[in-house]
Amino acid sequence: MQTTYYQQNAGSFWDRIAPKYARKPISDPDAYEEKLSCVRGLLKGTDNVLEIGCGTGGTALTLAPAVSRMTATDISRRMIEIAQSKLGPHAPLNVGFQQAEAADLIDGYPFDVVCAFSLLHLVDDIPMVLARVRDQLKPGGLFISKTVCLKDGPIAIRFFVRALTAVGIAPRVIALGKTDLIQHLKDAGFEIVSTSHFGQQRTNPFIVARRPFA
Ligand SMILES: C[S@@+](CC[C@H](N)C(=O)[O-])C[C@H]1O[C@@H](n2cnc3c(N)ncnc32)[C@H](O)[C@@H]1O
Repeated sequence: MQTTYYQQNAGSFWDRIAPKYARKPISDPDAYEEKLSCVRGLLKGTDNVLEIGCGTGGTALTLAPAVSRMTATDISRRMIEIAQSKLGPHAPLNVGFQQAEAADLIDGYPFDVVCAFSLLHLVDDIPMVLARVRDQLKPGGLFISKTVCLKDGPIAIRFFVRALTAVGIAPRVIALGKTDLIQHLKDAGFEIVSTSHFGQQRTNPFIVARRPFA
């Protein structure tokens, strides 16, 4: 697939911050554990899973023992290098990392489950990404996402993020609301299975959606 100007810039932004991102502690470890246990509850040992926008791979490596195969992709070459450096002798053997844009078709599809954590607010064409996710899922397969919804928070934060983006400290973020996100998912042909939140953050909805059987 042809890369857009935005995607090239997104890749270089994340390449630049990847080493710092890798060192950054998880901001709310309890909420992260809650998310992981909720995702594990949705996975089966036979599942073929794709994670898009996997960053430095920590979540994919943690979830891999719960599934048959875990493929994790990210637009940033540097993020993927850091993820691959974690594939030592003690890492699960069923994980593969590769550099790819969120809308790319990934070898190994169809998948039982696709995950996207803290990603959808960063892509430039959400309908395209969701259409590709749907096409790569088996009928009945799950799309599990957690997304920053800036539109549902204080407007001052939106302006602050925009200012950080302008000076290159933050990536470009689309100001989505949870209702926009749900509408995008429905427009792409998904059924909404559940929506929830973890920890104090009310603006990062965790949404489980299903590709219908028919
Ligand atoms: C906020 S980080 C989240 C990383 C990881 N999912 C997590 O929850 O820690 C966003 C990640 O999305 C990746 N990303 C941004 N735009 C992307 C795109 N269009 N396609 C694929 N990955 C993208 C970035 O390189 C970065 O690793």
